[in-house]
Amino acid sequence: MTYYAVNFCGRSIVLIGMMGAGKSSVGRCLRRRIHVALLDTDKIVASKSEMSVSELFAKHGEEEFRKLETEALRSLPTAQQAIVVTGGGIVLRKQNLELLKRLGVVIWLDGDEETLFQRASRSGKRPLLHGTNPRQAFAQMLKARLPLYAKAAYLRIDTSVLTDEEVAVAILSKLKRFARGAEEGPASATAS
Ligand code: S3P
Repeated sequence: MTYYAVNFCGRSIVLIGMMGAGKSSVGRCLRRRIHVALLDTDKIVASKSEMSVSELFAKHGEEEFRKLETEALRSLPTAQQAIVVTGGGIVLRKQNLELLKRLGVVIWLDGDEETLFQRASRSGKRPLLHGTNPRQAFAQMLKARLPLYAKAAYLRIDTSVLTDEEVAVAILSKLKRFARGAEEGPASATAS
C-alpha cells in the first residue's frame, strides 16, 4: 500500500490524543505499513534540550516544555510526508491547533478514561502523573482536553478495544475511503 493511495490530503498523518492512547505505538505500526518518516514532538524536544521529557519537567517546569513543544511542532516540515506523533498536551496551546492542521490529517486516538489511565500509568515516565492523586489529575486533564482534541481532529478513533495494529489498519482504511470521497468531490469527503 503506498502512502499516496491512502492519504486524504497527500500530506502527513498527525496523531493526537491523551497519554495512553497509543500514539507512539500506532505511529510505529503505521510506519511499518507506509514507509514514511516517523516524527515525534516529544523526541524532538528531548533531543533539543538534551534531556528526557521527565527531566525537563523536573528542571524547568511544564511551561518551558510547552514552549519547546510548540517550537518542535513549528519545525516540522509541511512539504515532507510523514507520520507525526505528538504529546498528549499538544492541544493546550491555541497556536498549536493551526500548526497541527497545516501538517496534514489530524487523527485523534481516543479511548475510555479508565483504559487510557491504566495504559498511561504503566510506564511511570509521565511527569504529569507523578502527583499525589494521579487518577484525579488524569480525569481533570482529560475533561479539559476533550473539546480541544475534538476541535483539532479530522477524525477520531476509539482505541479502547483495539490493538495498535488494528488502530493503524483502521486509520489507513478510513483515509483510503476519504481519499476516494475526495476524488469524487468535497461534499462526500466528510469524516464519520
Ligand atoms: C504530556 C504527554 C506526554 C509528554 C509530556 C506531557 C501531556 O506525551 O508530552 O509528558 O501533557 O499529556 P504522551 O502523550 O506521549 O504520553
